[in-house]
Amino acid sequence: MKLLITGAAGFIGSNFVFYMLKEHPDYEIVAYDDLTYAGNLATLQPVLENSHFKFVKGDVADRRRVFSLFENEKFDVVVNFAAESHVDRSIEDPGVFLKTNVLGTQTLMDAARRFKVKRFHQVGTDEVYGDLPLERKDLFFTEQTPITASSPYSASKASADLLVMAYCRTYQLPVTISRCSNNYGPYQFPEKLIPLIISRAMEDKEIPVYGKGENVRDWLYVVDHCKAIDQILHNGKEGSIYNVGGHNERTNIEVVRTVLKLLGKQENLITFVKDRKGHDLRYAIDPSKISNELGWEPETSFEEGIRHTVDWYIENRKWWEDIISGDYQQYYVQMYGSN
Ligand code: NAD
Ligand code: TYD
Repeated sequence: MKLLITGAAGFIGSNFVFYMLKEHPDYEIVAYDDLTYAGNLATLQPVLENSHFKFVKGDVADRRRVFSLFENEKFDVVVNFAAESHVDRSIEDPGVFLKTNVLGTQTLMDAARRFKVKRFHQVGTDEVYGDLPLERKDLFFTEQTPITASSPYSASKASADLLVMAYCRTYQLPVTISRCSNNYGPYQFPEKLIPLIISRAMEDKEIPVYGKGENVRDWLYVVDHCKAIDQILHNGKEGSIYNVGGHNERTNIEVVRTVLKLLGKQENLITFVKDRKGHDLRYAIDPSKISNELGWEPETSFEEGIRHTVDWYIENRKWWEDIISGDYQQYYVQMYGSN
């Protein structure tokens, strides 16, 4: 079996590469990634010498390059992680989100059709469902929840999902989609909430919390997400969408406090800042479909996962310091007004 994994130098894509090489050592994996600010080849260092692994640099929206890659490699399966993934950046500059997330997905699917791949898996997000009210704890996102995107990021991911389903219906492209809740774990870029808190707290810097910190996210340890995608690739029904989440809702302020406690840092580092524009209130996944149909269940509790994640950032300080010392510093000042 030969897999194309796009966006493999990013957070979830790299974890998925490690997971698949471990679980299926006989598979061949080609990683395709344009190494944007969010992609880091150093992350893939441990597998660069593996004879079942190959890295190719390139843009998913570059039609010529994508088509020649598919022609040369003859993939069985494509898993599309490549995306612009940060909501705050999408609010500042939506254009690149449409190019990568929508046109990039279209380009990959055109190549998948032309070269007859057996499965095109789109890595989607629960953010395509918009948000849920904070006070209605009984409501969850199911696969039937209408698409209602709030940010340019979620609108681009929703557009991609619609296009994937359209390619399935119109051209019988064998697709599946997973829509996962917020992931956390090793190798997440420190612009996202959890690694941002860890890295800033370790340097005794202020932790910016949007609004009152009351917004709720449903956190899943990244390896559980990788396992869900593996199960969908092997047993998922063509043309199906699967929500992925582990019923682990937390307010942002709870998450911040948990991380500060694990690091032994004081809560006076918390700074409430201006709220995000259009800030989604609550995300909460109903994972019954993937659980009933494929037997998927999350294996890592939040307590265990967050402890492991904090330890990883402590032990791998160079990985995130190298990132923070680059262009990211400029981004932080632009977004938050100070260092
Ligand atoms: P990430 O930003 O860490 O990684 C994205 C990767 O895509 C980077 O390596 C980047 O270099 C690459 N990339 C960007 N534009 C590209 C292009 N034009 N061509 C080729 N490669 C390009 O993102 P992530 O958090 O790992 O998310 C991966 C996927 O999972 C995304 O599709 C995202 O929407 C989805 N997702 C993420 C979460 C989450 O909590 N992080 C939750 C649900 C779904
Ligand atoms: P984020 O990690 O950007 O994921 P998403 O917006 O895709 O859910 O943010 C998670 C939550 O944390 C979200 O409610 C916004 C909030 N947040 C802050 O309060 N401060 C920050 O500096 C960041 C980056 C996020």
